[in-house]
Amino acid sequence: MRITLAKTAGFCFGVDRAVNMAYEIADKGIDAATLGQLIHNTYVTNRLAERGVGIIDSPSQSHEGQTVIIRAHGVSESVYDELINVGAVICDATCPFVKKIHNIVEENSSEDIPVMVAGDPNHPEVMGITGHCKGEVFVFNSAEELQKILSENKELCQKRTIIVSQTTFSQNIWKICKEKIKIDCTNAKIFDTICFATRKRQDEAEELSRKSNLMIIIGGRHSSNTVKLKSVCEKNCETYLVERAEELKTINFSQCAEIGVTAGASTPSAIIKEVLLAM
Ligand code: F3S
Repeated sequence: MRITLAKTAGFCFGVDRAVNMAYEIADKGIDAATLGQLIHNTYVTNRLAERGVGIIDSPSQSHEGQTVIIRAHGVSESVYDELINVGAVICDATCPFVKKIHNIVEENSSEDIPVMVAGDPNHPEVMGITGHCKGEVFVFNSAEELQKILSENKELCQKRTIIVSQTTFSQNIWKICKEKIKIDCTNAKIFDTICFATRKRQDEAEELSRKSNLMIIIGGRHSSNTVKLKSVCEKNCETYLVERAEELKTINFSQCAEIGVTAGASTPSAIIKEVLLAM
């Protein structure tokens, strides 16, 4: 039996960086909290909580001198202001790729230069991006929504609009939207801001599942990108989603010569190691 672990299994660069920053602060034993859940993984949040780093939901729950860790999704300008006002010490773990989008909209937007963001308006990353824009902001999640915005705001097509996307926006929808913008808004400045970490993880999982008799996906059952990895792989071979090593006991590996393993974006390397060791 051969076990192959996908190179892209687990945390992406931005999440890994944020988790390491939070662990470092936890190790120092200082008064600290994360603003929102750092990642959707109870193993990590419990480990931080055990070491005194809890979760606050808004800057108003912080207090003077407390270190507040901003997660990889980033936050709007007003959240930084609120944290400064309460006297919190900011530990900014915003992913550098998200930070780059903040800088683009801050430097290029103005009262006369609106921003259009491709993404989910309810996603924290998009809420953070819109909170760094200087003038009007429009968010669209599909080519249809883009069309609606352009039809209802005809002046946008003449303006020097700035266009960015959420880092995890669909590459296909982005391509369609870009083509439309190039035709309708000739003064628009488009910035390609999609991050390919998620895409690369899915592509590698798919390739690995084609060469394997069985795939193990490690991650939370409520994590959408983990569930997506399972659906990508199960088209090619028998696939199981496990949260912890003990769940392996129910799986029959006897007929498998090639086993592939990957993990969702919020699965810590300690859990991946634990599962590999058990296998
Ligand atoms: Fe950053 Fe890309 Fe991960 S934007 S948080 S490296 S998915």
